[in-house]
Amino acid sequence: MDVLGRQEILAIADDLFASHTGKHFNDLQKKILLRTLEGKTYLDIANETHHTEKYIKETGGKLWKSLSKALGEKVNKSNIRATIERFHNSLSKSNIIQSFQIHNSNIWQDYGTHNNDAHLNNNHQASNASYYEDLSDVPVYENFYGREKELNFLEQKIITENYRLISILGINGIGKTALTVQLINKIKHHFNYVIYKSLSSSPTCTELHNKIFQFIGNSKKQFNNVSLSSYLRQYRCLIILDDLEFLFASENYAGTYKDGYKDYDLFFKTIANNHHQSCVILLSSQNNRQIELLETSNSSSFSLLLTGLGTKTKQILHQNNLQQEEHWDKLISIYNGHPLYLEITAKLIQYLFLGKVLVFLNEEESFLHNDIVILIQETLKILSPSETRLIEYLAQQSNPLSIPEIKNKTSLSTSVIINGIQSLKRRFLLETEAKNDHVRFQVIPLIKQYIKSIQSTSNKQTNDE
Ligand SMILES: Nc1ncnc2c1ncn2[C@@H]1O[C@H](COP(=O)(O)OP(=O)(O)OP(=O)(O)O)[C@@H](O)[C@H]1O
Ligand SMILES: [Mg+2]
Repeated sequence: MDVLGRQEILAIADDLFASHTGKHFNDLQKKILLRTLEGKTYLDIANETHHTEKYIKETGGKLWKSLSKALGEKVNKSNIRATIERFHNSLSKSNIIQSFQIHNSNIWQDYGTHNNDAHLNNNHQASNASYYEDLSDVPVYENFYGREKELNFLEQKIITENYRLISILGINGIGKTALTVQLINKIKHHFNYVIYKSLSSSPTCTELHNKIFQFIGNSKKQFNNVSLSSYLRQYRCLIILDDLEFLFASENYAGTYKDGYKDYDLFFKTIANNHHQSCVILLSSQNNRQIELLETSNSSSFSLLLTGLGTKTKQILHQNNLQQEEHWDKLISIYNGHPLYLEITAKLIQYLFLGKVLVFLNEEESFLHNDIVILIQETLKILSPSETRLIEYLAQQSNPLSIPEIKNKTSLSTSVIINGIQSLKRRFLLETEAKNDHVRFQVIPLIKQYIKSIQSTSNKQTNDE
């Protein structure tokens, strides 16, 4: 006995087709599918629709091809019913199929009365049945400035070019989450499901999967036997995973998973490699090997490295009522346009110097005030021992150095230097300069100043003793 009626199969196939092509079936495609389910031949359909048999065969072939891509398995004239029923069964353990059918029958009732593309978009925006969000963990930011280029670029990659795995990277406090909050508001109406999760409680990959499935499937059941890809293919989901660095071990090379977390690699690989219409965004202050690898080997994955906000940070200074505007550029350049550093420094200048930027700048090493030092120490305390040795050495140098130059001047082995530099780069603590056939490295300015200042304090103490 057939599990699904013809109209149901048609509705599911149409949703899959729309998920893959962005368009619903036209009348001819609808007829080809229905008549095929009734056991009619291409010639029968050609006679009924007044097209040639060749044209019907070609149109049918394209239809099966699109459905094959959407389902991730080969679909043809003879297995269409069985394939759709199998797909239906794979999801039927969860409530998702209910909302899918409701959602789908709405589409189907409206079908034919709308322009297909417009209908699809309106459906995302207007129908409660087709849009769900779990943004309860999203932090609130009162102000947001600049980053227009980054926002437009990300929107283009996600919405127009359908990139599936995107990493937004950068040192702590550079504005990854703030940017992503803006991005979510800009693009969320293109999706059926939008979920934001911070990984700061270090969930295992299975725990995270269950959370995502509970949201998308609206059920408390375990979903081990249901493939995530089916959901991501059937629904357009936007999944944002913030604070990825909480999965990585400290005092180890950057991006090294804690014990028991390695299966995240497979998860990210699946997201990047499988065909689906969803997007996962990772936010991290450390890059890792798998993310780098996918970025170079997979055309649907890329990373965006965030740097300072530049002169846009003037608005942060304005907002804190700072004075002596002619000295703001100097302040911004000391902190390299880092929004968090500038925000907390602006508050300090307001409290202790009545907003007078020049008075603050005239104080010796005032820019390394305690609130900044705490943030820098947090960044440095998780380095591996060989990274610590390297960064302390590099911070003392007035010019950038290449790997052979470091090797000549220190007792460090080539492998310690290479691994250490790679790891420090994955934490965005080194700047690179490529010149005269050599790549040279130096520590980013503020961290360099900090390391030099603690080294000179400890030298002074040794001399005084
Ligand atoms: N574009 C911006 N405009 C105004 N303020 C910003 C902007 N970007 C970041 N900030 C401010 O800088 C601070 C740090 O930003 P955010 O939390 O986004 O950094 P992050 O890179 O996510 O840091 P972490 O790595 O610690 O998660 C916030 O207080 C935020 O208000
Ligand atoms: Mg953040």
